[in-house]
Amino acid sequence: MAEAVLTDPMLPRRFRVAKAWDELGDVRSLELEPVDGAPIAFRPGQFNMLYAFGIGEVAISISNDAAEAGRLVHTIRSVGAVSDALTKLQPGQMLGLRGPFGSSWPVEQAKGRHAVFVAGGLGLAPLRPAILHVLNNRADYAGMTLIYGARSPGELLYAEEIAAWKSRFDTEVEVTVDHAQRGWTGRVGVVTTALGHALSGVDPGSVTAFLCGPEIMMRFTAAGLIEAGVAARDVHVSMERNMKCAIGFCGHCQYGPDFICRDGPVFSYDQVARRLTQKEI
Ligand SMILES: Cc1cc2nc3c(=O)[nH]c(=O)nc-3n(C[C@H](O)[C@H](O)[C@H](O)COP(=O)(O)OP(=O)(O)OC[C@H]3O[C@@H](n4cnc5c(N)ncnc54)[C@H](O)[C@@H]3O)c2cc1C
Ligand code: FES
Repeated sequence: MAEAVLTDPMLPRRFRVAKAWDELGDVRSLELEPVDGAPIAFRPGQFNMLYAFGIGEVAISISNDAAEAGRLVHTIRSVGAVSDALTKLQPGQMLGLRGPFGSSWPVEQAKGRHAVFVAGGLGLAPLRPAILHVLNNRADYAGMTLIYGARSPGELLYAEEIAAWKSRFDTEVEVTVDHAQRGWTGRVGVVTTALGHALSGVDPGSVTAFLCGPEIMMRFTAAGLIEAGVAARDVHVSMERNMKCAIGFCGHCQYGPDFICRDGPVFSYDQVARRLTQKEI
């Protein structure tokens, strides 16, 4: 009986907030530890359903390095009742967790290739496990480029970590903002404006790209990469839709013929390109 309870994917397990810290004004990260002591293993790009007791459950990507055995970090923006309750949790408080769920960034298949990450806004959080995987196994990859865009300098997530990545000799990092503020000396413009510079001298046939951010940003970035010669099957995107069951039962996250919880959230661009241009899907 106890085993059946533990393996029921609809039953949340209790996790305790071990640490909680501010990232941006409305964004906080939570480090979670299992009350039952059994850690979860995950792949970069997967998500958990986090349950704020008495309020509700939402999908949140796992944002730390998957190689950190037993560590589990989520970065959450407060946009509504559930995400707001989650961002208010303090160390020692409890939440429910189901997961991990979904497909993952194909970091193993990208070995030997040039990994290009393009993130917009909070989209850096679901990409971070894949970025850390490539950085920590950098010798396995021919090259690594990160292009990160935010609306303004004050909205850049993980700013200290990005500065550390930027200081590495083996990694190209381009940070751009839509609107500069006084004191910003970096690039201004949407992420697509940085593509040409970031990819100059890179063989497009060797690129595996990982995109995460608003759908319009992923659509234009994918178009730019494909125009530069990258194959659509080598471009990967992470999709978001409201979720309920997260195990392919309820149909809430239906996306054309796919359920995002079961078949995604990570898709290759050739799978979803037509749907990304159709608004209602
Ligand atoms: C696979 C997956 C991974 C996700 N990863 C993260 C993550 O790492 N961090 C994070 O903060 N959020 C993430 N989200 C989004 C998160 O699930 C939603 O923000 C959350 O469901 C909002 O619930 P709520 O009850 O707080 O707000 P609601 O009351 O449901 O929504 C409040 C407002 O936010 C808008 N909204 C809701 N969901 C989204 C969304 N996905 N994108 C843009 N606007 C939205 C609504 O239209 C509404 O205007 C992810 C979603 C999916 C499907
Ligand atoms: S959330 Fe129920 S099918 Fe995806």
